[in-house]
Amino acid sequence: MRLSNELCHRARSLVADRLGLDFPEARRADLEQGLLRGLRASSLAAPEAYLAWLGALPDGSPEWGRLAGHLTVGETYFFRDRATFEALEQHVLPTLIAIRRAEGVLRLRLWSAGCATGEEPYSLAILLHRLLLDHPDWVLTILATDINPEVLETARRGRYRPWSFRETPAWIRDRYFHSRGPDTFELDAGIRRTVTFAPLNLAEDGYPAVVTNTSAMDLVLCRNVLMYFTQGAQRATVARLRRALVPGGWLVVSPAEGSADLLGPLVPATFPGAIFYRKEPAGDQGLGVGDWELGIGDPGTGVRDWGLGAGEWGSVASFPEPQLPAPNPYVSTPLPQPPPCVPQPPTPSPQALLEQARALADQGSLEQARRLCEAALARNRLDPEAHLLLAAICQELGEIPAALDALRRAIYLAPDCAPAHFLLGSLLLRQEEHKRGRRCMETVVSLLRAGPGDEPVPGYDGLTAGRLLEMARAYLDLNREGLGAGG
Ligand SMILES: C[S@@+](CC[C@H](N)C(=O)[O-])C[C@H]1O[C@@H](n2cnc3c(N)ncnc32)[C@H](O)[C@@H]1O
Repeated sequence: MRLSNELCHRARSLVADRLGLDFPEARRADLEQGLLRGLRASSLAAPEAYLAWLGALPDGSPEWGRLAGHLTVGETYFFRDRATFEALEQHVLPTLIAIRRAEGVLRLRLWSAGCATGEEPYSLAILLHRLLLDHPDWVLTILATDINPEVLETARRGRYRPWSFRETPAWIRDRYFHSRGPDTFELDAGIRRTVTFAPLNLAEDGYPAVVTNTSAMDLVLCRNVLMYFTQGAQRATVARLRRALVPGGWLVVSPAEGSADLLGPLVPATFPGAIFYRKEPAGDQGLGVGDWELGIGDPGTGVRDWGLGAGEWGSVASFPEPQLPAPNPYVSTPLPQPPPCVPQPPTPSPQALLEQARALADQGSLEQARRLCEAALARNRLDPEAHLLLAAICQELGEIPAALDALRRAIYLAPDCAPAHFLLGSLLLRQEEHKRGRRCMETVVSLLRAGPGDEPVPGYDGLTAGRLLEMARAYLDLNREGLGAGG
């Protein structure tokens, strides 16, 4: 298909705007070919009509994901780029594991962003399985997202052809896969269950957010995705992924994508044949909380320690000694002095506690965040927002029954709280409760469909009602009736 210059220009800016994808003149033929495939799959006849139809679709429509599939190469394979996986196996993951063991927190959160058909997140799952002999004791999150619902469907099935093992040591296939007929290998169900697949457009700004399980990551792999993006989309995506990392967390891009200019504030770390990027352990904390009078700073997180563990409202850091008035030389008998006034620390409001809890959760200090959330709830048990935040934190802690309980309370108190239905839906879908999960996502759609899309979701930076609506629709598309098991 050959597009007129005017149509080509329109297509280029539409695709850049909605998908972040870059098609300079030198790649015009790729753009035209991808659009032609998209056009053929639609019921429309002419490119003009197809472009107009695309332009009118909401951002999160699965059609955009399918078009991304036509416009990008979904090529991937197990343990792609040996040097990267060696650095992960020999340095980065053992270090993260050792830190967590020393902290007594057996939890790791990894994210494969732009996971295609799943080989990358499953490689991470296999690696963790090999590194953690006590893996049943760990709470492991491996989130795997992609914009294209078709590749996610393939990923969830976990069945692969020999081409997916083109550079994979043979013993990995023998050890972790079961042969299912000629040329088909199915990944072990235990490993499969470790990975959570979800639709997400990296070029949009609905992440990181606890409600979408996209924050407090120890390691993010975003490889062979940014190379397709416009410069603006690359920068915005890297900034969001950086915010999704805990202090000291790692971002891995492919060797061709790494540039100091793009990855900027992250610190490069060189391993044989690979460069990873690390968020400074005490880096930009940007908590946006007020100038608190109470508590002392925690140098590790840069966050005030409210001292809740001790069962008190924090310790007073450095109030000045109370000054007694000087004696009056004209009065022989000293007047009785009022007792010295010791300033009392102001008691933080439940809302302030929640803000702080959210900031801590974003940084991965999940236990502290939970304590603050519970403290806010102890003051006001009827606050649905606090129950919702508690649910999101419990989800990140891997405490799913507690998360479900908190969500039920949030929804009881605020039946039209769309983020609560969204989180409940994503948890149920993760547990393969397809019918109930779908119902929740349908509720999100019916709650948000008529409202203004640009309205921010309170408490979730950058997440708008429109984005949440799109994500719910994408989940519904990914879990279409008849596709899922059980529920
Ligand atoms: C080449 S694959 C990368 C797979 C894997 N990360 C690897 O390196 O082997 C690129 C993937 O990026 C996805 N992608 C393209 N644009 C995207 C976007 N805006 N948001 C999320 N994923 C996107 C594509 O659907 C495709 O599955």
